[in-house]
Amino acid sequence: MYQRIYRMLMLFPVLLLTGTLVLHAQPVKPFYMDENHPLEERVKNALSLMTLEEKVALCHAQSKFSSKGVPRLGIPEVWMSDGPHGVREEILWDSWNEAKWTNDSCTAFPALTCLAATWNPEMSAIYGKAVGEEARYRNKSVLLGPGVNIYRTPMNGRNFEYMGEDPYLASRMVVPYIVEVQKNGVAACVKHYALNNQEIWRGHINVELSDRALREIYLPAFKAAVTEAKVWSVMGSYNQFRGEHCCHNDILLNKILKQEWRFDGTVITDWGGAHNTMQAALNGLDIEMGTGTDGMTRSVKNAYDNYYLALPFLDELKKGTVPESVVNDKASRILRMIFRTAMNSKRPIGSFASPEHAKVARKVAEEGIVLLKNTGNLLPLDASKYQKIAVIGENATRKMSAGGGSSNLKPHLEISPLKGLQTKYGSKINYAMGYASGPPAYGRAIPSKLNADSVRTEAVKVAGAADVVIFVGGLNKNHNQDCEGGDRLSYNLPFGQDQLLNEILKVNKNVVVVLITGNAVAMPWIDRVQALVQAWYLGSEAGNAIASVLSGDVNPSGKLPFTFPVKLSDNSAHSFDKLCYPGDSIREVYKDDILVGYRWHDTKKIMPLFAFGYGLSYTNFTISAPQTDKKTYEKNEVVKLNFTVQNTGKLAGAEIAQVYVTQKNAPVLRPTKELKGFKKVFLKAGEQQTLTIPVKVEDMAYWDEKTSNWKVDSGEFVLNLATSAGDVKFTLPVQVK
Ligand code: BGC
Repeated sequence: MYQRIYRMLMLFPVLLLTGTLVLHAQPVKPFYMDENHPLEERVKNALSLMTLEEKVALCHAQSKFSSKGVPRLGIPEVWMSDGPHGVREEILWDSWNEAKWTNDSCTAFPALTCLAATWNPEMSAIYGKAVGEEARYRNKSVLLGPGVNIYRTPMNGRNFEYMGEDPYLASRMVVPYIVEVQKNGVAACVKHYALNNQEIWRGHINVELSDRALREIYLPAFKAAVTEAKVWSVMGSYNQFRGEHCCHNDILLNKILKQEWRFDGTVITDWGGAHNTMQAALNGLDIEMGTGTDGMTRSVKNAYDNYYLALPFLDELKKGTVPESVVNDKASRILRMIFRTAMNSKRPIGSFASPEHAKVARKVAEEGIVLLKNTGNLLPLDASKYQKIAVIGENATRKMSAGGGSSNLKPHLEISPLKGLQTKYGSKINYAMGYASGPPAYGRAIPSKLNADSVRTEAVKVAGAADVVIFVGGLNKNHNQDCEGGDRLSYNLPFGQDQLLNEILKVNKNVVVVLITGNAVAMPWIDRVQALVQAWYLGSEAGNAIASVLSGDVNPSGKLPFTFPVKLSDNSAHSFDKLCYPGDSIREVYKDDILVGYRWHDTKKIMPLFAFGYGLSYTNFTISAPQTDKKTYEKNEVVKLNFTVQNTGKLAGAEIAQVYVTQKNAPVLRPTKELKGFKKVFLKAGEQQTLTIPVKVEDMAYWDEKTSNWKVDSGEFVLNLATSAGDVKFTLPVQVK
């Protein structure tokens, strides 16, 4: 007995020690979890531990906005969210209905047309940081944006989500957005790759175009996203290119994106964009997302198992018709993305709907608003001069963060233009609706039940009784307006706004028009209004930003990221037959080729209503003393164009200097000029600054279809220093050898 007690007492320290060791021993992390190891080795290690079924499970959706991880190995699911101008509210697991959470009301940032209109990459950076923080806070691994499809026609219902008509501007603006989003451990997903330049027939239209147009116009912003911003995911587009859907398109995905640009991230389908297992397996797709069994329409139990990259893919792998290396490549890419995002223990924690983010939204909105006309003395609107200010137009009160399709947002706050103007001008404001568009609805337009004549008559009465009228109109986010899933039906303003404006102009000469659109519109009344402001979809702080610009608290400094043609037939895509736009429902041929936007207007000498790059200020600037650092350049050199900008007016403001390049005596067709550099400079009244805009000689190249490569010819080039595509101030010849 004593002996037993003695033995136990002797053992006690040993037990104690082992217990302590057990309690304190760190569990050994599996190799792939240990962030001290190089990423590629972790990916290899995780892959080596996975079954074929687990690899396939990574490659397709498990719910509307998520795909599986590897639960057995502790590798988390991938959660995605739209994008691109705010983090979308939560959607139910397997239906498109909202989940009705109460903690997902976000900051609505201005739509990307507005961001592009700032012509300020610093705005892209603060925007990307803020929206990335919101996505991170909401635990999203992938933010479905930004979008960089080129603005080809003002009819495209989705232009508002993109960055305009110029590949250089879109490239410069998209890179900082992506870099800053991804610093949050959230993958940006640049979309829709590629040639999704219209919504009509987007699911199947087969786009035909030359290699030159593809390379020079439609791909550069995607290329910059991949090679410069190192984006972690790319979304394929719905349409076809050369007979294959873009979500599994050998040329676009395997050859260009993955081989040529060395993209190491994941290709995600647009929702329901996959159509065939073998193509999905072999043509570069990594994750198939969708909305039902066939991706587009139906939803059945276990729909996700029937996806092209689910059980049918597994079958092909088991049969050996698809080699295992194919799924290994896809799974490696997905693991890499998961390690970069959800499994990055050092990623910041994010923040959501904060006052700081509201400030970012407002700043970008204020910098992106474009003053297009100001011939009278109306703007900036001096409240002391007027007793009665009429605000007319449905867009003054309409919530514009809602609608538009997948970019629809549930904002924490949205200041309407009317609210912003009331805060600024108080009880001097008298509001009338003027026109009525109907309730928000997706996929169809529901007309308003209000009587258009009486709504208009009432507004004309209010306008007649006022000293000044602020008309807030434009398009909205309904079907056939600025909205996914359909194109516009007319270039004119909808809902009788042209007639309304005509009647208002008969009773009041002091009219300021504020257009809220993501697209150019016809303006038959332009000569009769005194001021015109292009105000985009501005998000949470819309009304405050508009009021700051109209009142002069902020001096407008945005410039157009696309051309406003006088009439639709002046636009390149509308200058040929129907096959050029919208196509015959099967094919569409881009007959305008490389001459898109201002490239078309310049080369064909068609005066636009407002040129690409155009925008006014409440102050004036002069540009002087332009000079290149040399006269002759080698092909790997950079031209340094130096010049001075002076603010010659009485207010602080910003000018955006633009450099367009012309090739003289080119052996192939070249646009009259192309944007290759720009700089936005803020100057106090009277201040001047000497600036340098670098222009890379390699950026002066065209795509040589004979060699399938970029080519810079030797010879004479001209640098056009301009304040818009329509206003060249100086031309400077240089030689390239
Ligand atoms: C859109 C994408 C979007 C996706 C998910 C699609 O209809 O084209 O841009 O990210 O839906 O909502």
